[in-house]
Amino acid sequence: MTDAMTDPEGVWHRLAGSRELPDGRERPDGHVLLDGFHALKHALRFGAEVPVAVTADRAAALALADELAPDVRPALDALLAEVPQSVYAALVPRPHPTAVAALAVRPSREARLARLAHLPRTAPVVVLDNPRNLGNAGAVIRLAAGFGATGVVTTGTLDPWHPTVVRGGAGLHFATAVERLAVAELPAGPVFALDPEGDDIRGVKLPDDALLAFGSERSGLSPELRARADHLLSLPMRPQVSSYNLATTVAMTLYHWSAQTSS
Ligand SMILES: C[S@@+](CC[C@H](N)C(=O)[O-])C[C@H]1O[C@@H](n2cnc3c(N)ncnc32)[C@H](O)[C@@H]1O
Repeated sequence: MTDAMTDPEGVWHRLAGSRELPDGRERPDGHVLLDGFHALKHALRFGAEVPVAVTADRAAALALADELAPDVRPALDALLAEVPQSVYAALVPRPHPTAVAALAVRPSREARLARLAHLPRTAPVVVLDNPRNLGNAGAVIRLAAGFGATGVVTTGTLDPWHPTVVRGGAGLHFATAVERLAVAELPAGPVFALDPEGDDIRGVKLPDDALLAFGSERSGLSPELRARADHLLSLPMRPQVSSYNLATTVAMTLYHWSAQTSS
């Protein structure tokens, strides 16, 4: 029986916010909170290392796995330790309806950078230029995972591994390479930047090695990103509407790429 199964609360407290791995080694990138059954399910599917997972109702969590995720049921059965509801509630900022939470090892920065730099690239990298809204960033990571994008890079001060972004990403930070970089450090590849003043995207084929760049909710594309852009593209919009929400813009653009790729 693992340490985590016999003393899940102790293991949690040792690992939460620390950079220690279960075997005592130091890991520079630390752990992230997986909040709820679906986040844990996704993280396991995409190969996350999960040293501790707790639930206030193990039978209910395993029943959910039988119904929705039989592929990860054996992993959940081995991992999930039941703790009293009061202990579970004390470990998380806000209890989740599924009463499941886990800590996952954040992939190393080197591994994330290697994934972003790998060539030939078979699917675009999404670049969010100085995004401000943590919920938008999480939604974009979920979209990128769904479309099989190579990664999501943010520029600026927002941390794409912030707990609120991880919550919005539903555990899918492990399905794509998520990193923060300066514009000057972006991976190689042609930059297609989305801007309401650009050329109509409907006439353009987006290549698989593209960097698809989107501006900030507040002020659009930065001068640095505009200078790095090879093409400015717009999504169709009726006159008098000034712009779409950032995450919906990413959704339409990734859909446009995928529809061309599969045709
Ligand atoms: C909420 S918008 C930014 C609005 C901002 N006030 C501005 O000045 O551009 C965020 C980003 O979504 C993308 N976007 C929104 N609507 C778009 C459209 N119709 N065509 C292309 N990109 C769009 C752009 O990348 C934009 O920078």
